[in-house]
Amino acid sequence: MNIHIYESEELLDEAAAGLIGGLVRLNPRAVLGLATGSTPVGIYRRLVRDYRAGLISFRDVTTFNLDEYVGLPADHPASYHTFMREHLFDHVDLPSDAAHLPNGAAADLDAECRRYEALIEAKGPIDLQILGIGSNGHIAFNEPAPELVPGVHVVELAESTRRANARFFDDPQDVPKHALTMGVGSILQARAILLVAKGKDKAEAIRRALKGPITTDCPASLLQLHPRVVCMLDQEAGELL
Ligand code: F6R
Repeated sequence: MNIHIYESEELLDEAAAGLIGGLVRLNPRAVLGLATGSTPVGIYRRLVRDYRAGLISFRDVTTFNLDEYVGLPADHPASYHTFMREHLFDHVDLPSDAAHLPNGAAADLDAECRRYEALIEAKGPIDLQILGIGSNGHIAFNEPAPELVPGVHVVELAESTRRANARFFDDPQDVPKHALTMGVGSILQARAILLVAKGKDKAEAIRRALKGPITTDCPASLLQLHPRVVCMLDQEAGELL
């Protein structure tokens, strides 16, 4: 695993955006796996900046997001559809029909999991999967558990995840209890993975993910099995390595 620790969040965001931008310039038809949450916001801001400067185009790119809350329609202010529109999609030339997220408001969630899985298989493999990490070691919404599910599935969110994500909702009670998520198998099928972590809240999860045993108690530890993972950390997230 390639581990880089940056002196500041700004330097990390520049490096991550540079990696993604470089990939898209080399392969304009790249398939990108995208994450939501606080971690990638500065990276997306830089991709928008580089698009506006004419340095990068998403015209032929395809994207797949990792997850979406169950029960939130795409236009809900806290949905991941809305997050992606606000932080990236509305500001670049990515065609709307090339930006894919699971539909958390689908009437038949099992059918929606199968549809999303089949779409990734048809249009994939994902060239670069961007990942954040939960302080409990989750990747996407694969929470620590005795067993993990390989494909796209419905998951019950850990209480710690609901608490951590309450900041995006008016009332903490409004955080959905379930999500649709890519499984660890879907993630490990990406050609390359960019794992990003910021802040001391992530330091222990990063230590377990990168240096601990491979265990479903820390789903991110499965990334040790992947041959092409780049891990970009700020100093706080990397302080226990
Ligand atoms: C988001 C996702 C999650 C987050 C993780 C970290 O699509 O899949 O695994 O990456 O919860 O969230 P932040 O970046 O908000 O700390």
